[in-house]
Amino acid sequence: MRRLFQRSGRMKNLATSRDGCTRSTSWITYMDGTTKTASSSCRYVFVGRLGIVRYTTATILHIREWLPHGEEKVLLLQLQEGPTFNQRNVTPAEEKVMKQRTARSRAARCAIARDTRRSADGMRPALHTQNMTTYFSRLDVQLQEELKKTAEAILASGKGILAVDETNEGIGKLLKNVGLENTENNRRRYRELLFTTPDLAEHISAVILYDETVYQKTDDGTPFIELLNKLNIIPGIKVDKDVTALFLSEDEMTTQGLDDLGKRCAAYKKQGCRFAKWRCPVKIGLNTPSVRAINDTATILARYASICQSEGLVPIVEPDVLLDGDHDIERAQKVTEVVLAAVYKALNDHHVFLEGTLLKPNMVTPGQGCTKKSTPKEIAIATRTALLRGVPAAVPGIAFLSGGQTEEEATLNLNEINKVQGKKPWILTFSYGRALQASVWQTWAGKDENLVKAQKELLKRTKANGLASLGNYEAGTAISAAGDETNYSANYKY
Ligand code: 13P
Repeated sequence: MRRLFQRSGRMKNLATSRDGCTRSTSWITYMDGTTKTASSSCRYVFVGRLGIVRYTTATILHIREWLPHGEEKVLLLQLQEGPTFNQRNVTPAEEKVMKQRTARSRAARCAIARDTRRSADGMRPALHTQNMTTYFSRLDVQLQEELKKTAEAILASGKGILAVDETNEGIGKLLKNVGLENTENNRRRYRELLFTTPDLAEHISAVILYDETVYQKTDDGTPFIELLNKLNIIPGIKVDKDVTALFLSEDEMTTQGLDDLGKRCAAYKKQGCRFAKWRCPVKIGLNTPSVRAINDTATILARYASICQSEGLVPIVEPDVLLDGDHDIERAQKVTEVVLAAVYKALNDHHVFLEGTLLKPNMVTPGQGCTKKSTPKEIAIATRTALLRGVPAAVPGIAFLSGGQTEEEATLNLNEINKVQGKKPWILTFSYGRALQASVWQTWAGKDENLVKAQKELLKRTKANGLASLGNYEAGTAISAAGDETNYSANYKY
C-alpha cells in the first residue's frame, strides 16, 4: 500500500479548546509536506509560525480568533508553513514547564468556574480571564425569573413601599419624642400598629423591615412576616450596617456590612424576606462628592446587589444624594447623574441582573439651605432628566426615598414626576419612611387610644402616594396631621 504520510501522532496539551478543557490533537504530516490536524473539540486558528521543530505553550498565545459557532467546517488549524511537529525535539525541561503551565491555567479556570457557579463547559478561558466584563456566567434562569417576578410584584400599579427599617437607634429618637422608652416591646408595638392597619395593602405592595422586626410577632403571636404575607405585602429587609466616616475625606461617608452579607441574606430569605435594601448617602459640598466617594458608593452597591441576587433577594439599590447643603437644583441634578452613571457601570461590571433590581434614589431638589426654591414641575423635570441619563431601561422600577421632604411635598413631587410628558421606561413610585410616618407618630403619640386614628393617618398618605404613583393626585386633597411639617434634619441617621 502506498505510503500516504510520513508520520502522525497526538500532541497533548497543545492548546486549550473553547470549552475550557485541555485535549490532545491528532496530526498527520503528508508526504507532500502538508500537515493536517484533526480534533473533535479544538477549533482554533493559529496565526504566525508554530515553529518548525518544536511546539511550546507559547503557541497558545498565537490564538487570535475563536471560530464562531456553526463554522465547524473551517480549517481547524492554519499553519503558515508546512511544519512538522516533532515531539522528540521538546526537551524534558520544556515539557515540564508546559505541564506546569497547563495545570496552572486549568486550576485558574476551575476557580473561575467555581466562583461563577458555572461548569468549565462553555468557558473561554483566555478571554474570560483577560476581560471579566464581557465573559461571565449568567444567573440561573429560574433565579432570574424569581427575581423579576418579585420586582414586578413590588411595582404593582398604584402601590409603593412602606419603609419601616429605622435602626433601633433611629426609632429610639422617635419613641423618645412621644415619651416612650426605646425598648424592644415599644418598637414592636409601633410596628404592629402599622402592619395591622386595615386596608394597608390597597396602596402598599411591600415593607422594608429592620433585622429585629423580621423575628417579631403581633400581640396574638402571629409573626409579622406571616401577617404581611397573608395581606399580600412583600417583606424585605435593610441589610446595610449603616454609615461610617470615609477616612481622610471632607466629611464623606461609606457604608458597612458586606463581610457577612451572603450569610445574612440566606437567613433572611429563609425567614420569608424577598428583597433587600442598602442605602449609601452621598453628600454635596464645595468639593464633594469626591471621585473616591462616588466610586466607593458604586462598588459597594454593586457588590451588595450581586450578593443579594446570589441568595434570591431582589436588591433595592439606594444611592441617596442628600438634601443637606445649600446647592441649587442644577448641582443636585449633575451630582445625581454622575452618581447614577457610576452605580450602573458598577452594577454591570458585577453582572447584576438589572431586571431583578429596583432603584431607590433621591428626587432632584435644591439643597435644604438653597434660597432659590423649585416648583414640583421643575423638580419633576430635573429628576426625570437625571434618571433618563443614568438609569438603564432594563431596570423595571424606581421607588423614591423622601429624604426629609414634608409629607405633602413628597406626594406632590412624585405626582409631577409621573405627569411629566416624555420617555418613561420605568414604573415610578414611592418607598417612603418619614413621608409616610410623620403623621402617624404625631397622632399616635405613644397612646393605645390613638391607635385607630394613627392608622387612618397612615392610610391617608399611602392612598395619596398611590395616586401620585399614577400621576392622579390632586394637590391638597390628603390633609394629614403633619402635612407641611418638615421632616428634614441635618446628617439624618436612619
Ligand atoms: P426616607 O423616606 O425617610 O428618606 O427613608 C429613606 C429610606 O431609605 C428608608 O428605607
